[in-house]
Amino acid sequence: MPDPAPSPALKCVRAGLENNLKLPENQVLKMAAQTSPPGPSSFSLRVRVVLSCAVVAAAIVGTALACGAGSPAIDCPDSGKDVPERLCEWGFFEGDGARQQPVDGVVPYTVISNLFTDDAHKLRFVALPEGGTMTYDANEKWQFPAGTVIIKTFAYPHDARDLSQGYHLVETRLLVHEGDTWVPHIYRWNDEQTAAERFVPGTRVEVAWTDETGTKRNQPYRIPSTDDCKICHGGKEKPDLLGLRTRQLDLMVDDGNGGLKNQIDHFYDLGLLDQKPEPADSRTRLVDPFGDDDLVLRARSYLDGNCAHCHREGGDAQSSGLWLNFENQDAEHYGVCKIPVAVGNGGGGLDYDIVPGYPEESILIFRMEHTEPDIKMPELGGLAPDEAGTELMRAWIAGMEPKGCGGTGG
Ligand code: HEC
Ligand code: HEC
Repeated sequence: MPDPAPSPALKCVRAGLENNLKLPENQVLKMAAQTSPPGPSSFSLRVRVVLSCAVVAAAIVGTALACGAGSPAIDCPDSGKDVPERLCEWGFFEGDGARQQPVDGVVPYTVISNLFTDDAHKLRFVALPEGGTMTYDANEKWQFPAGTVIIKTFAYPHDARDLSQGYHLVETRLLVHEGDTWVPHIYRWNDEQTAAERFVPGTRVEVAWTDETGTKRNQPYRIPSTDDCKICHGGKEKPDLLGLRTRQLDLMVDDGNGGLKNQIDHFYDLGLLDQKPEPADSRTRLVDPFGDDDLVLRARSYLDGNCAHCHREGGDAQSSGLWLNFENQDAEHYGVCKIPVAVGNGGGGLDYDIVPGYPEESILIFRMEHTEPDIKMPELGGLAPDEAGTELMRAWIAGMEPKGCGGTGG
């Protein structure tokens, strides 16, 4: 893909960043201890994708010393390109960024229902332009001023049992609000973890890490191309944000002082929102799919986080008629006794997306367990099936009252 045409808007973004919103240091929230305790033991193998900036900062200290992060003399010359060639040129992070320690004004945040991407951990940050605020909305996606950049880094812990051993950063993705659209960029971290360079074509990599059971893994991982972004971020239209909305952001996070605070209320207290949000107890929110809330809520939250970016009105899978977004209350529309639109290989000889009470007769499960590209769901995202997620879907379908779909399934 050729480089995007030079954009004056982008220059403004970068100039703006130099004096973007300054927050008092002690108010930059530490990411993201979720309130709910780790889920029941059947899900305990799941990597809990909740990181604390503080943890990451502490954890990557070894790397940081090696590469001189935090030292003022880091080697990050301006490439002079409209789109910086190296991530450090953007100035989001201290030093070379290997510790993912944001500078003042770059605000970490987290989401409730995470998209599974081959067990990668994720770090997210918002950088608003000077004086800019996020436009709160109870139901729809929030709106952002031109010049906003959202940052998302994918990383694997060296040893998931001991995060203090640090992380291997794989890629950092950006969505840059250039006024009329969000423009995607990817920066790929080098093996030495000293720099991340702009990367357009997409590729597969392998990362060695040790999972929570102590198993050493050579993790195949797919870095998407910048063309892939729009498949999830906006269907066939322009890229749009996915996770920055009330139902994904409304959770309790570490307040940095040993306490917990609601993330949305915290944004408001920092002056990042344009209006006072309604009280926390009247907001609609997802639940942690692997927490201890009601099974149906957990299942619907999982589908919202992992499938609904395509399976919704206007999404890439709109024409399948299978809408897996949280607010869809029409059972047939979310798969119950729904006959698939295009059967092909993807049906596995089964008749319905969901047969209540019978996970093994449900196409939804069949497709989540498969790895062949034509069949696998979700498309894109991870290479391997999400075992814990599939388990949750099985439990949800098994728990539905078995009433049969006419002709099959009891
Ligand atoms: C497989 C689907 C998928 C693909 C492909 C994808 N994303 Fe995302 N992305 C998501 C989902 C779902 C979220 C929201 C949840 C979260 O933050 O993890 C998200 C969130 C983000 C965010 C945080 C802001 C937001 O939208 O909430 C950024 C930045 C981002 N993606 C950048 C990119 C870029 C750049 C690409 C292309 C290189 C890309 N993504 C490709 C699914 C995808
Ligand atoms: C990147 C986009 C994308 C994501 C993410 C995605 N899907 Fe799909 N899905 C599609 C498309 C496109 C189709 C229609 C073509 C086909 O059947 O392969 C489809 C079809 C399906 C079908 C057949 C539906 C029908 O009635 O015809 C099922 C079942 C399904 N997906 C389940 C899921 C589940 C469960 C998830 C999340 C775990 C998911 N998908 C995530 C793109 C996606």
